[in-house]
Amino acid sequence: MDRIRIVGGNALNGIIPISGAKNAALPLMIASLLTSDTLTLENVPHLADVENLLRILGNHGVDISVNGRREHQDGSYSRTVHFTCRTIADTTAPYELVSKMRASFWVIGPLLARCGQARVSLPGGCAIGTRPVDLFIEGLQALGAEMEIDSGYINAKAPEGGLIGARYTFPKVSVGATHVMLMAASLARGTTVIGNAAREPEVVDLANCLIAMGAKISGAGTSTITIEGVTSLSGARHRVLPDRIETGTYAMAVAMTGGDVTLSGTDISLLDTAIEAIRRAGAEVSAVEGGIRVIGHGDQIRPVDIVTEPYPGFPTDLQAQFMGLMTRAQGVSHVTETIFENRFMHVQELARLGAKITLNGQTARIEGVSRLRGAPVMATDLRASVSLVIAGLAAEGETMVSRVYHLDRGFERLEEKLTRCGAIVERISD
Ligand code: UD1
Repeated sequence: MDRIRIVGGNALNGIIPISGAKNAALPLMIASLLTSDTLTLENVPHLADVENLLRILGNHGVDISVNGRREHQDGSYSRTVHFTCRTIADTTAPYELVSKMRASFWVIGPLLARCGQARVSLPGGCAIGTRPVDLFIEGLQALGAEMEIDSGYINAKAPEGGLIGARYTFPKVSVGATHVMLMAASLARGTTVIGNAAREPEVVDLANCLIAMGAKISGAGTSTITIEGVTSLSGARHRVLPDRIETGTYAMAVAMTGGDVTLSGTDISLLDTAIEAIRRAGAEVSAVEGGIRVIGHGDQIRPVDIVTEPYPGFPTDLQAQFMGLMTRAQGVSHVTETIFENRFMHVQELARLGAKITLNGQTARIEGVSRLRGAPVMATDLRASVSLVIAGLAAEGETMVSRVYHLDRGFERLEEKLTRCGAIVERISD
């Protein structure tokens, strides 16, 4: 199993190219199941989760060709992937595949809309909470589907003639359930109005791609999305939006280590709340042509309290990284997690580096320390693992992060990107 070795203490200076967003690429890839034409996605990141989904889609009958890998001067490359699903070969998504990644459960929407039926294993994913699927079930039931749980699978069946548009308001905001409703309702008969929809940029990206495929969607990016069903969708070409979580992660890394880094190929407006928090912590962040410039001052980090919330609030996917930053703040800060009940597994690992954190329910109290010391630590989930990397970059001495496969699910060429900016980071393959 690979490990990552970090020798901390160096400031970061240079350019970090930001990849396409994992959380946009996954639903966009799944949307290819909705059409028999070719859907072409540009800027698809090379990540374990993406490769896993390629396998799952292949299983459903999607013909996939990957090309267009290009090296740019700033070290970035982008992949273009063509997806063609002439016919759905299999409407079952088996446990062996779905258990590896929660988002693969989302195939239930397109399968049901296009074939009138689906049998999909209940999902796996990061162990950051119970993560039920009740909202998916209720939403699809509102469109007329019969949903039944049987031996770890959900059997879904559309009414004769297909799904039927309906008005449905989610009792709680869910990114995944909003994606699924968007895809399912695009091919339903009549109009669907989704209330309390997720407003994440990735939802807007999916809606834009579906619109390019011929769907009739308005209101994406607001809490109410209206979808007028169409009988079929066509192919399209779409560019995956930049990864705001990767952007925020590197911005926090620079705020912590100090230095001057341009994050290229990203957009500051995707993460206003997080940028505001990073600025309050003392880093200078500005929009520059084609990206964002971050100037960090390392030792003069100010304490900032944050609360995670659905977009446009502070993203839960940046909570662990921000806590990492706060471990070296000059004072006490509080981090409150409201989205996932078990997303504090990084706390005890950060403590191994010398952080002083106490947990009280959903709130962590972080007393900043003047120095962190490198130590062996274990990655516990995707975002938690990268918080250990950025803390390791700011720690004195060597930090060895094990269980790196968590990182590989969501961060493309992390060690290369950091090394190019002066960090000492290497992957050790045993
Ligand atoms: C997506 C993101 C993930 C991010 C999360 C919240 C992807 C691939 N993953 O995950 O990185 O952390 O949004 O921004 O895009 N819930 C229910 N019932 C359901 C569905 C969800 O109670 O049927 C709850 C969850 O347990 C959680 C909350 O709703 O407490 C939000 O989860 P959701 O927005 O659905 O997260 P994901 O779409 O899985």
